[in-house]
Amino acid sequence: MTIDLANPDLYTTEARFEMWREYVAADAKIWSEPGLSPSGFWSVFSHRDVSAVLSPKAPFTSEYGMMIGFDAEHRDSSGGRMLVVSEGGWHAALKKLIGPFLSRLRAPELESVLRREVDEIIERLRSADSTDVALEIGPRLPASIVCEVIGVPIGEREQLIELTNHAFGGEESSFDKMTPAEAHTEILFYFHELIERRQREPGTDLVSAMLADGQLSTEDVLINCDNVLIGGNETTRHAVTGAFHAFQSFPGLLDALHADPELTDRAVEELVRWTSPAAHVLRVATEDCVIGGQPIRKGQAVVAWLSAANRDEGVFPDPHTFRPDRTPNRHLGFGTGPHHCLGAALARVELRELLRRLPAEARAVGPRGPVSWLRSNLVQGYRSLPVAVEWR
Ligand code: HEM
Repeated sequence: MTIDLANPDLYTTEARFEMWREYVAADAKIWSEPGLSPSGFWSVFSHRDVSAVLSPKAPFTSEYGMMIGFDAEHRDSSGGRMLVVSEGGWHAALKKLIGPFLSRLRAPELESVLRREVDEIIERLRSADSTDVALEIGPRLPASIVCEVIGVPIGEREQLIELTNHAFGGEESSFDKMTPAEAHTEILFYFHELIERRQREPGTDLVSAMLADGQLSTEDVLINCDNVLIGGNETTRHAVTGAFHAFQSFPGLLDALHADPELTDRAVEELVRWTSPAAHVLRVATEDCVIGGQPIRKGQAVVAWLSAANRDEGVFPDPHTFRPDRTPNRHLGFGTGPHHCLGAALARVELRELLRRLPAEARAVGPRGPVSWLRSNLVQGYRSLPVAVEWR
């Protein structure tokens, strides 16, 4: 079979779920020739195969890059320096440095920011007859949490949140002369300036901690801020938007969560599984190996489709249904193994606050237009989700 699974057009409709179902049922391993991606790559889809590729013992590296676009001739320029594309001792050192800023222990400090942001989300929804949650709601919560973690001073946050929104698909009208890539560069300029400021006046934030460590160059600090920025925004915003999509698609869900707030934690896990915003991760084999019966040669890339594994019906009965009480729920939405999402605890507190507060106030979420999906092989997410909320 020849199919270029890098083709982003494959992911703009819900037909992708049927494609993945067939691949999982056939226990498929598919080779995509070089095409939209400079180098060819294997793809695996089942929960078992994806877990095998990401297992700590598997002979794979992220240092060539961790997403489609991998080029065997040119290693990712951040490889070996940015947390998500580094391995071994450097990866462990970065994790130790950055981890505490994203850990569950930070959750209480972030509570007031979270409460304020969810208040604002509810206010925005209440003040409009119809809201495109993909553009106006999804990005807010993650962007303000990332600002808090990185240590962006309060007075500078609004501008950075809007730039972030523009860079990652929210298309802020205030930046209509700037492309999303330019907005991202603008954010990096801002981080550069923030780093210089923290060199002069250290604080208790992530940037200051990375500088104080003494092992990271200014550029290392910059690219790891970028890792937290992208990791924290590109994914969580679609999980937030997906919560509204789930409320709209499963009308009993709001009442179920309202009646039993104890369900919230399990519903958060189900939201991450059902939305699976990180569609894939890529690894390169460091030696010849076999995954699910398929020989993989040293130097070949394997794409592990997390979004397909999270709908593997052998592991998740009735996988397309959002079951707030799904147990067990061994989803791979945050990845697994050494690169398991370092921001998972933060993402969970963000989503918990949303799933706790909305059902208490909203009675129903109804569509005000069609769902439109991102044209992306990397992020499974929403381009547009217009909704109207009915309040209790
Ligand atoms: C890594 C998903 C939220 C920061 C990852 C990985 C996945 C993922 C799948 C593994 C990448 C790989 O194996 O190559 C998600 C999802 C989120 C989310 C679905 C929300 C629903 C966040 C947040 C932050 C964050 C809120 C930070 C504020 C990171 C970082 C890594 C990472 C720093 C790299 C970890 C490492 O390489 O050791 N994330 N993420 N993520 N994520 Fe998240």
